Amino acid sequence: MYLHVTISATSNQLLLKNLVVFASGSGSNFQSLIDAVSEGKLEANIVGLISNNESAYAIERADINGIQTLIISPNDFDSETDYSIELLKTLKDWETDLIVLAGYLRKIPTEIIEVYRNRILNIHPSLLPKYGGKGFYGSKVHEAVIKNKEIESGCTVHLVTEEYDKGPILGQAKVQITETDSPADLAKKVLEKEHQLLSEVIQEYLKTFKN
Ligand code: GAR
Repeated sequence: MYLHVTISATSNQLLLKNLVVFASGSGSNFQSLIDAVSEGKLEANIVGLISNNESAYAIERADINGIQTLIISPNDFDSETDYSIELLKTLKDWETDLIVLAGYLRKIPTEIIEVYRNRILNIHPSLLPKYGGKGFYGSKVHEAVIKNKEIESGCTVHLVTEEYDKGPILGQAKVQITETDSPADLAKKVLEKEHQLLSEVIQEYLKTFKN
């Protein structure tokens, strides 16, 4: 009886897909994925964190949760190709099925997008296609939204393609903006939605993978 339970748990584990998260800063979205996995809402293994920023709090979150980390920045390489080769080596070693950009503020090299076509998701803090593209990241998005007196904003999870913030949209969540909201207030509201949306979209997206 006990033996049977052990065997089925192990084989289920083997079917889980391996996620690698890229984060540059606080990593609260990364944390939301760790929490979703431990609560059983996201059926996947988070096998590693990649960051370009050695002081990112995301790295501490990885350490606390026993998740391996690679700190790698394009600035440390002579060419984008050398950088991509190193990144690809790690992604392969970690048997990556899906890459999740969760507050990752560097461009993903074309070579990586080609190898992991339809296997890279990004979360963006606006209702794309609005407030996306070069220059729109983090607080800059919320400042522009407030400046333009929008009445709603939100977040988007989309597939990463060669065109920045333009890949197919997999999910969005909206928030309402009041007249008194500052960019910081909006950031807080949107981040709360991000923390729900990201794991929900990943969970659904993983269902489309063939084993
Ligand atoms: C999040 O709001 C995420 O959507 C945004 O950075 C923040 C990271 O927060 N990403 C972008 O702007 C990408 N264009 P976190 O480090 O607490 O997850």
